[in-house]
Amino acid sequence: MRIAVHGAGGFTGRLTVAEVRRRGFTPVLVGRNEERLRRSAAAAGAWDAEVRVAGLAEGEALAAAFADCAAVINCAGPFTVLGQPVVRAALAARTHYLDTAGEEGFIREVLDGFHEEAVRAGVAVVPAMTDDGAPGDLIARLVAERVSAAAGLVPEVAEILVADLRGRGVASRGTARSMVAVSERAASERVVPERVVPEREVLGKDVPGPEMSRRGVVDGGGPSVVDTEEGPVDVEAFALPGAVTVPRHVRVRRVRTVIRAEVAALFAALTPDVVDSVPEIPDEAARAASRWLMLAEATGTGGGRARGWVTGSDAYGMTAVIAVEGARRLAEDGAPAGTLAPAQAFDPAGFLDQLTTHGVTWQVTPA
Ligand SMILES: NC(=O)c1ccc[n+]([C@@H]2O[C@H](COP(=O)([O-])OP(=O)(O)OC[C@H]3O[C@@H](n4cnc5c(N)ncnc54)[C@H](OP(=O)(O)O)[C@@H]3O)[C@@H](O)[C@H]2O)c1
Repeated sequence: MRIAVHGAGGFTGRLTVAEVRRRGFTPVLVGRNEERLRRSAAAAGAWDAEVRVAGLAEGEALAAAFADCAAVINCAGPFTVLGQPVVRAALAARTHYLDTAGEEGFIREVLDGFHEEAVRAGVAVVPAMTDDGAPGDLIARLVAERVSAAAGLVPEVAEILVADLRGRGVASRGTARSMVAVSERAASERVVPERVVPEREVLGKDVPGPEMSRRGVVDGGGPSVVDTEEGPVDVEAFALPGAVTVPRHVRVRRVRTVIRAEVAALFAALTPDVVDSVPEIPDEAARAASRWLMLAEATGTGGGRARGWVTGSDAYGMTAVIAVEGARRLAEDGAPAGTLAPAQAFDPAGFLDQLTTHGVTWQVTPA
């Protein structure tokens, strides 16, 4: 099975190519720069892999590069700036699409803007297949099911908190560049506060669909501390993918997404000149030693609460594992056509169980 990796010349792209090869599939490296793609193939241990050169402005060439592949994994960020042409090319090629985007605004644009086209093309489009996007969405669904008042397709709860509780760990230059792109776009568009406040109120929708992530908003309040087994952690509101993915499959009045306050301060200090000083590829040993932790807490309409967490190491390596496992599932097991949050495309517990073979642990408990 051929899996196309767009942006394969970058850091996440290279890890994804290596993971495609490790799983026994055939990687096809796609991007704008042949030399970088070949260097990446070699570094990923895929010397003989096929390289297809196509720029973002060459829609037809990009679609042709994807056409005989079972899925495309897009790793070229900032997605806010670069992402949409790749989604369009995958749809033109009728190839399943996944990406490694962590940018909430882009994820919302994909989920809301490409649904009908994806249904017409008969393919699944699943953004946010990263170490935070997928585990955060899957565990949020599982805690929502635990306290839901409604049985059936769409759980119903009063509130969900999704917290990314990793500390100041490793980040690639590509991640830093993406954070800056998000702030620059927010500033240039003079984004109204509710578009950046990562809390969404979902009103009266019974079926999951694009409408559920488009709904309105709310106050910026909420506690600034999350209790964990290791003690209280200071947090700040931050637009994680879960702010848009969770309301796609849970009827919920309020979704709060937060990160550690110290990490929020680090992100806030990022400027274009600082980005250039961030190493392109994070230190290998630091990467292996780093840990990530996604926590979700649901409050039911009757006040009951459930909490769940997912934790693992090496966030970038895990992103590659998650994206490739997602591509395999779309290609081999199938999924409904349309734009889908991770928990709509995949069985949440089954997907998390699969990650345990990579050292991930997860649990859902009454809070
Ligand atoms: N948890 C998360 O949210 C998470 C985890 C992992 C990755 N990510 C995201 O994945 C993205 C990639 O990260 P990274 O560290 O791999 O970055 P990177 O090493 O800088 O790679 C960026 C890729 O984008 C391509 N690219 C840049 N500008 C382009 C353009 N104008 N046209 C076509 N291709 C272009 C680059 O191509 P060249 O090789 O030709 O320069 C390269 O392949 C980032 O947005 C990052 O935030 C998110």
